[in-house]
Amino acid sequence: MSASPALNVIVLAAGQGKRMRSQLPKVLQPIAGQPMLRHVLDTARSLQPRKLCVVFGHGGELVRAAFAGDADLSWAEQAQQLGTGHAVQQAMPEVGDDGLALILYGDVPLTRAATLSALVAATEGGRRVALLTVNMANPAGYGRIIRNEAGAVLRIVEEKDATPEERRVQEVNTGILCAPVARLRGWLAALKNNNAQGEYYLTDVIAAAVADDVEVIAAQPADDWETFGVNNKAHLAELERVHQRNLADAQLEAGVTLIDPARFDQRGELVCGRDVEIDVGCVFEGRVEIGDNARIGAHCVLKNVKIGTGVEVKPFCHLEDAIVGADSVLGPYARLRPGTVLAEDVHIGNFVEVKNSTVAAHSKANHLAYVGDADVGSGVNIGAGVITCNYDGANKHRTTIEDDAFIGSDTQLVAPVRVGKGATIGAGTTLTRDVPANTLTISRVKQSSLEGWQRPVKKK
Ligand code: UD1
Ligand code: CA
Repeated sequence: MSASPALNVIVLAAGQGKRMRSQLPKVLQPIAGQPMLRHVLDTARSLQPRKLCVVFGHGGELVRAAFAGDADLSWAEQAQQLGTGHAVQQAMPEVGDDGLALILYGDVPLTRAATLSALVAATEGGRRVALLTVNMANPAGYGRIIRNEAGAVLRIVEEKDATPEERRVQEVNTGILCAPVARLRGWLAALKNNNAQGEYYLTDVIAAAVADDVEVIAAQPADDWETFGVNNKAHLAELERVHQRNLADAQLEAGVTLIDPARFDQRGELVCGRDVEIDVGCVFEGRVEIGDNARIGAHCVLKNVKIGTGVEVKPFCHLEDAIVGADSVLGPYARLRPGTVLAEDVHIGNFVEVKNSTVAAHSKANHLAYVGDADVGSGVNIGAGVITCNYDGANKHRTTIEDDAFIGSDTQLVAPVRVGKGATIGAGTTLTRDVPANTLTISRVKQSSLEGWQRPVKKK
């Protein structure tokens, strides 16, 4: 077998997407938190193309800016949208003279790489044109695939140009095709726009290929949604669910327990150990790692976090850029903000916020506390309502709480301040100076009761 020809991928992304009713260009609308175009490009890259070219339209600066870091891309501007054939033509100077061109769409985000490589293979090294088609019960709006009696593909007719008989055809053009570059260049150059829409149709290259005795083969994807395009927010939401279901299925396949795979949202990378259980309504963003036997309760949001083995995250927690040690218990309603590192068996309870702090093993802050810019030792108990006053209005300062300290309820630790090992702070203390180890510190007005005191009464 000869080496397979070089692959050039051309992604059409010039459409305006008016029906999205959004400031954001259509191909930047997200699926699983990433622009649709990023999904298409990632899939394209898995085919190891020689060239990867995006055709962008008027106002495409935002699109280019969003992919400024992608050095492997080349860009072709289609200033006026004169049709899909015209769009592909704009990219032809960017691709070489040989090899294959695979045409994809920035608003068709979920095509499988396997489907595309099968399509590329179906060209038999560029001897044929390969077209991705699907059969639709309701083909309205799509280009129809016209075959001869022997079943060979002859041409594509757009809905607006089709006869009533042609409109009855249920095999439709997905728009995705693969063709030899050298031939495609000629077919595109010869396109005419004498059709119902006055556009240069990419679809007309099919009849041109047949006229040149180049066989056209139609291939089908495993699933129809692989070819679905997004024109409005309803389509976007529909494909989001399809994609999320696929991601959920992959987690189930890997042995993760999802209480309801239909109520699961992964917007990044989620790596789970054995016997991880995830309850409904959780959102995972960025890179999240969850250790063996950990449980994530309902309605938690986890972004860039590492959860140790055996951790229990109770419902309604929000965790971001944090590390949680083994066997810790969080929530319900706990918040870990960036820079939080919890060692093993740490308890962070309801309405406790921890930011940019380390908490050593077996320490607890179970209720209504703010721990910011702090280093907390092991075996520390932080009472209800404790606050580290880390910000003086201009600068942030650190608080250090050494091992086995007990911080009474409603204590304010005015940073910078240090609590020595084993020290006890009485409830309601406002701490402004360092505390020696193994002492009791209280700062509060001595309790007194006034005998015979009368409540004021309302004046008549
Ligand atoms: C096109 C196909 C039709 C197919 C359908 C599948 C043509 C002539 N028709 O129809 O056979 O069934 O897709 O969805 O190709 N685009 C540009 N520049 C342009 C025009 C379009 O970049 O000048 C891009 C759009 O952004 C979009 C894609 O090409 O991503 C398809 O354009 P659209 O107008 O939606 O195609 P249809 O006319 O619906
Ligand atoms: Ca159109």
